[in-house]
Amino acid sequence: LQDNAKVEISASDSMEALEKTRVKYLGKKGELTEVLRGMGSLAAEERPIIGKMANEVRETMETLLEEAKKVLKNKALEQQLASEAIDITMPGKKIEIGKKHPLTQGLDELKNIFIGMGFKVAEGPEVETVYYNFDALNAPANHPSRDISDTFYINKDVILRPQTSPVQVRVMERVKPPIRIIAPGRCFRNDTPDATHSPMFHQLEGLVVDKGITLGDLKGTLEVFAKEFLGSHTEIKFRPHYFPFTEPSAEIDASCFKCGGEGCGFCKGEGWIELLGAGMVHPNVLRNCGIDPEIYSGFAFGMGIDRLVMLKYGIDDIRLFFENDMRFLNQF
Ligand code: PHE
Repeated sequence: LQDNAKVEISASDSMEALEKTRVKYLGKKGELTEVLRGMGSLAAEERPIIGKMANEVRETMETLLEEAKKVLKNKALEQQLASEAIDITMPGKKIEIGKKHPLTQGLDELKNIFIGMGFKVAEGPEVETVYYNFDALNAPANHPSRDISDTFYINKDVILRPQTSPVQVRVMERVKPPIRIIAPGRCFRNDTPDATHSPMFHQLEGLVVDKGITLGDLKGTLEVFAKEFLGSHTEIKFRPHYFPFTEPSAEIDASCFKCGGEGCGFCKGEGWIELLGAGMVHPNVLRNCGIDPEIYSGFAFGMGIDRLVMLKYGIDDIRLFFENDMRFLNQF
C-alpha cells in the first residue's frame, strides 16, 4: 500500500491530482482508512502490531503528501515569477505631461503684470446684450460695428460680444469707485479667417476709475505694461484715434522689440508696432453707469491677447492657436 501511494504521490503533477491521491488513501473511504477501520475484526494479539504499522504508514503518507505539496507550490511560484519577470534594461515609457496653451501662458503673464499694479480680474458674459456692448458704451445708432457684417446677432437685442468693453459697464454699474480691473475673455466678430483674423479671438480690457485719474496715469500704466511684456527698452507712443466710449482716444504703439525702433522687416520699416486701443472714459459712459463725471474720471484700454502673444513669440498665423496641432503647441 505504502509503495503504491509513494509512486502515485510522486506522479501527481498538480494540486488537484495530489488531492485525489490523498483521498484515495487517506479519505473517508480511502484504502488505508479501510485498513484502520478493519482493525476490530483482528485477533487481539495482532491488533497492536498491525495498528502500529498502519499508523506508521499513515504518517509516512502524510509526510510524503506534505513534501509533494511544497514542491508543487514552489514550482507554481517559480512559474509565476518567470512569467512576470521585468526586463529592467528596457527603456522606460515616456510620460507625456500636458502644458498650458500658449494663449493661456500669455494671459497668465498679462494678468501677473496688471495684478502687480493692483488690478483685480473681472469677467462678463460672452453672449452680451446690445445695451451693454453699444448703447451704454455711447456707440452712435449708426456706428458701423453695430452692423451684422461686423457683429454676430443672436436676435435684435442679444449678440456675441465683439469686444470686452461691455464688462466696463457691468463693473461700473455694480462697483463704486475706486475701480481698478482687467477683464480678459473671448470675443467674436463676423470676420473671414485668415492669418491675422479669427471670428473668435481674445481681448483683455482694463478700467481704472477714481477721483483725479488723468491721461498721465494711463500712460504710466501702459508704459509699465509694455516694458514688462516686451522688454525694458520698449518705448510707447500715443496716436490719436476714435472710440465711442473714450475721449480722448488713442491707439498705442510700442517701439519694435526686434530693431528697437530703427525700422526692420518685422515692423515693416516703421520702427513701431500697434499694441492696443485706449483712452479716457467718456463722461456719457460714466453717467450711463450712475457715476458722476464731475467727481470721477477714468481710463480704459483694450488689447488683443492673440495678437500680443503672436508678436512676442513670432507666431505668424492666428489660426494656429485654434487648430490644436501638437507640433505647434509643443513649441511653447
Ligand atoms: N474695445 C476696443 C476695441 O475692440 C478697444 C478699447 C478698449 C479702446 C477700451 C479703448 C478703450 O478695439
